[in-house]
Amino acid sequence: MSNANEKRLAGESAIRYVEDGAIVGVGTGSTVAFFIDALADLRDRIQGAVSSSEQSTTQLKKLGIPVLDLNATGPLSLYVDGADECDPHKHLIKGGGAALTREKIVAAASDKFVCIIDSSKRVDLLGKFPLPIEVIPMARSLVGREIVKRGGNPVWRDGVVTDNGNWIIDVHGWQIVDPVALEKDLNQIPGIVTVGLFAQRAADVVLIGDREM
Ligand code: A5P
Repeated sequence: MSNANEKRLAGESAIRYVEDGAIVGVGTGSTVAFFIDALADLRDRIQGAVSSSEQSTTQLKKLGIPVLDLNATGPLSLYVDGADECDPHKHLIKGGGAALTREKIVAAASDKFVCIIDSSKRVDLLGKFPLPIEVIPMARSLVGREIVKRGGNPVWRDGVVTDNGNWIIDVHGWQIVDPVALEKDLNQIPGIVTVGLFAQRAADVVLIGDREM
């Protein structure tokens, strides 16, 4: 099965986790785009969505799904999002689309995180996909040096500005044996806004196509 077909199946399968009357947390990316398309069929049965990016907000609004402010909704029952890599413990690398900060916020506010991927994202060890880190622009070099000290190869995603006005560093060359420890360690470096490791708050359910991992 092609990756696109698996992404579509995963997006459509996640609909079964949407309960009547829910406010749904919605992630970002090409797999989530299939989920949003399917969610449009339920628009009269849900209150709306909290979006993790301008890209998803545009698609949600176009399909007539109300986009709500997380500060007004309180905790969410469900968050649906894709990933760039997923290990056997449902730890994730995210941020390929530069939306990691809002994604982490909405994931943290949600009771259940359903991650939707195609089989190419499933890995035994995280790190082949370069780890995205969102940084305050003035801290770019400082953060880069700290990453080099830890054996990583930081590459500035030149020309990309996040929805929050920040920059992205992609770290190459790390084999991430302990994602929880690395996430905690990197979170201590001044200037890092968000690390694209979702390990402390991993996914609860992973759908690879229509198959639950
Ligand atoms: C966005 O910042 C990422 O975290 C996405 O969730 C990730 O890149 C998945 O994208 P696709 O569904 O397009 O593969």
